[in-house]
Amino acid sequence: MKRILTFFAFPVQESAPEARVRVLSNGQERLGANICLAIDKVDYFVPLDLAPWAGETILLDVKMSQGRSVRRDPADDVCWTEMNTAPVFDRSNKENNYRPVYHFSPDWGWMNDPNGMVWHDGLWHLFFQYNPYGSFWGNMTWGHAVSKDLVRWEQWDNAIVPDALGDIFSGSAIVDKENVAGFGRDAIIAMYTSDGINQTQSIAWSNDGGRTFHKYAGNPVIVPENTPDFRDPKLFWDAQSRQWKVVLAAGQEVQFYSSDNLKDWTYDSSFGLSYGNHNGVWECPDLIQLPFEGKDKWVLLLNINPGGPFGGSATQYFVGNYDGKTFKCDDPATVTRWMDYGKDHYAAVTWSNAPEGRTVALAWMSNWQYANSVPTQQFRSANSVPRDLSLVRKGKEVILKSTPSRELETLRGTPLRFTLSSAPAELSEQPMKAYELLIRFQLPKKEDLTFVLSNEAGEQVVFFYSAEEGTFSMDRRGSGIVKFSKSFAAVTSAPTRVGGKMELRLLVDSASIEAFGEDFSMTNLVFPSAPYNQLKLYGSVKADVTLYPLAK
Ligand code: FRU
Repeated sequence: MKRILTFFAFPVQESAPEARVRVLSNGQERLGANICLAIDKVDYFVPLDLAPWAGETILLDVKMSQGRSVRRDPADDVCWTEMNTAPVFDRSNKENNYRPVYHFSPDWGWMNDPNGMVWHDGLWHLFFQYNPYGSFWGNMTWGHAVSKDLVRWEQWDNAIVPDALGDIFSGSAIVDKENVAGFGRDAIIAMYTSDGINQTQSIAWSNDGGRTFHKYAGNPVIVPENTPDFRDPKLFWDAQSRQWKVVLAAGQEVQFYSSDNLKDWTYDSSFGLSYGNHNGVWECPDLIQLPFEGKDKWVLLLNINPGGPFGGSATQYFVGNYDGKTFKCDDPATVTRWMDYGKDHYAAVTWSNAPEGRTVALAWMSNWQYANSVPTQQFRSANSVPRDLSLVRKGKEVILKSTPSRELETLRGTPLRFTLSSAPAELSEQPMKAYELLIRFQLPKKEDLTFVLSNEAGEQVVFFYSAEEGTFSMDRRGSGIVKFSKSFAAVTSAPTRVGGKMELRLLVDSASIEAFGEDFSMTNLVFPSAPYNQLKLYGSVKADVTLYPLAK
């Protein structure tokens, strides 16, 4: 019987220096990747899908740098004996503790920014910055997953892979309903950054619902003028001018471009040099239109790293107006607004073409300070839950509110309702990794309140309302594994109204807690050695708690 070997499995040792692996066919390079091929121990395997070369003879060319062989003969490396081929690649979960239950994470490999989010023909498409050849940043490729309901995801084959123009950095996608680009009606068109000698913007299209993408022969379509950090194009439709627009990060500002055909782009304007926070690199912008008190407003999302309020990565935003060419901010230049007050909310952008006029955002749930060293191995990083965005009034201000998307409620199991006072409450008999807590209480003015979530190992996350400061804080310093980075143990705080009728919503998963109040969201990773199973309240009030187990 002839065995069909579709996958080549490379053994990876994360601490080994990278080797350069190339697939050659007829002397031509068809694929190149940097892989930490195992030297003396195998951490895990990564797959090379051989299907694209079915029927061809291919040669694998492996180049090892000197650094790999100083102590020994590279021929002794275990990678040579451990490499193997198989009909299927084993993607089953091997991450016992920290694989999220209801947040998207790739089956294997590294993930950062959500990319190219677009709703098309009943499916929410999520592309993402992906390293399919190791659970750390590199080989940037657009991974791909789809969902019918924003919460149950299926990972598809990689969508866009590196080429001669460079690695495939972040970008966006739209549905070309009127076929202005000429790639076909309803084609999905992606624009991404080609990270080569320069950062330039390229496009690719799909006529089969995102299964395969074709790169445009005229790439790149936007090139920088002496701007080193020139990336992360976000396409959006401007109904007024009936044109496609792009906003991208360019050094310490964003630039806007217009196009009639998605291929030829004209520079319109720049925004931001003196606005908001500049203690880092501006990345991943998005311009969205949201209704507010009967009018349309525009909100510019802007991710910055470092420079976040608690160190490292964070998302700021500017509320204002866009006239089809320029964005004007309503706030004075000195005002900085944060979209989320945790440490693990980055590269947040929104879905294009979302039904019902919704504006749904998704963030990468990590921070460049430690993303490469979080204590997982088969995969690294998950996304936040999807969140519907709206503008709301807070006193004299207009703020951007993130609300967990309603689809999350389909994960809820039978609720448990109880009143919490000074006695601690056990949340479940069996360890429960994924659950939601809705905590309602009436807090007298000037009174503080503390909730503590803890496990049998004494690890705990402390949630604290300070009446004097007018803040809600989350303290993860004793939350479990924290020592993998000096920057991980932290207390994060959000300004909020404290006193009166209040509600706190906590979305807990195996390695994260997302807190939502009436005027803030706070997203933080946690790595407890066992699920948090006890809730305690310190304060004079009683709280009405609803606990929903969450499962897919
Ligand atoms: C943000 C970012 C983007 C870039 C991508 C590379 O996290 O640095 O600016 O396109 O990641 O992976």
